[in-house]
Amino acid sequence: EEEVSPITLETCRDIVSTLPRENNWRAFGDLCFYQDFFCYSYLLEGAIFAQNHYQAQPSDILICGVPKSGNTWLKALTFSIVTRTQFDNTTTPLLTKNPHNCIPFMEIDFSRKGIKTTPGSLPLISTHLPYTSLPISIIDSACKIVYMCREPKDSFVSLWHYARKLKGGLQEPMSLGETFELFCKGVSDYGPYWDHILGYWKASLEKPEKILFLKYEDVIKDTPFYVERMAEFMGYPFSPEEEKEGKIQDIVEFCSFENLSNLEVIKTGSSAHIGIENKIFFRKGKVGDWKNYLTTEMAERLDKITKQKLSGYGLSF
Ligand code: A3P
Repeated sequence: EEEVSPITLETCRDIVSTLPRENNWRAFGDLCFYQDFFCYSYLLEGAIFAQNHYQAQPSDILICGVPKSGNTWLKALTFSIVTRTQFDNTTTPLLTKNPHNCIPFMEIDFSRKGIKTTPGSLPLISTHLPYTSLPISIIDSACKIVYMCREPKDSFVSLWHYARKLKGGLQEPMSLGETFELFCKGVSDYGPYWDHILGYWKASLEKPEKILFLKYEDVIKDTPFYVERMAEFMGYPFSPEEEKEGKIQDIVEFCSFENLSNLEVIKTGSSAHIGIENKIFFRKGKVGDWKNYLTTEMAERLDKITKQKLSGYGLSF
């Protein structure tokens, strides 16, 4: 039997280099279209590598969401839940690292550093990949997925601010109107935005024990409830003693926008992945901020797309 040699990162790079690309958002570089989603080329290389190499452990817990859906918060919450017997609020790595750097990121860390989850180590790994592009071993194994999504208008406004802050060099940042058109057409970081949500939503209906589907707005409204829910789902339930000691509330408060955004590491540090300032991940953390940016027409147009794409599947915001 002939042995097929495993794909290297260089080969992944070659694949990505043949894809059509455009620097539409003028943020991180070029967006490529691959397997029906848009992705920045340097992340796509790692994603293809992971698709070919990642061997999920049944104990793995995948933390995911489309960018600007609350990934930073979700990472802080899940990390705090899973490591609570190891660390407290005075020793947690979240005091000295951006939440994004506390959990390995599949598209970067797995391919570049060879990081993989192993039984007994931190079981968390994060990704922005759409459900249908996840490494097959994740779908086939018993590992779990915690997914967070967010109301599209707020997510778009958040993404626009983020892209403006990232724009490097001499280029002018894109106007709100220009990026709005792109977003509606599905041309955005890991977009089409609605397809990303729908992929995980459908999977969560089929496999509720595997995928916990969360909405940013729900978690904002009753964070303690969802912290308890996440803990149970991930297999790290709070004991009655912990509940009595106020452990859930501790985590909620520590991971709040107010607390995290005021940490020194967030105010002044930068992220190890790509050297961007940590504070860029913390803007307002509010529901409904789109009202300050979108015209009525824009809001109606996004709402219409959301309804068209999602309501047939029983999903609304
Ligand atoms: P805004 O730009 O609307 O303020 P992601 O983490 O997926 O990149 O999403 C970023 C969004 O989550 C930003 O939204 C950011 O302010 C918000 N966010 C970051 N940390 C948060 C927290 N601890 N609680 C609530 N929202 C948070």
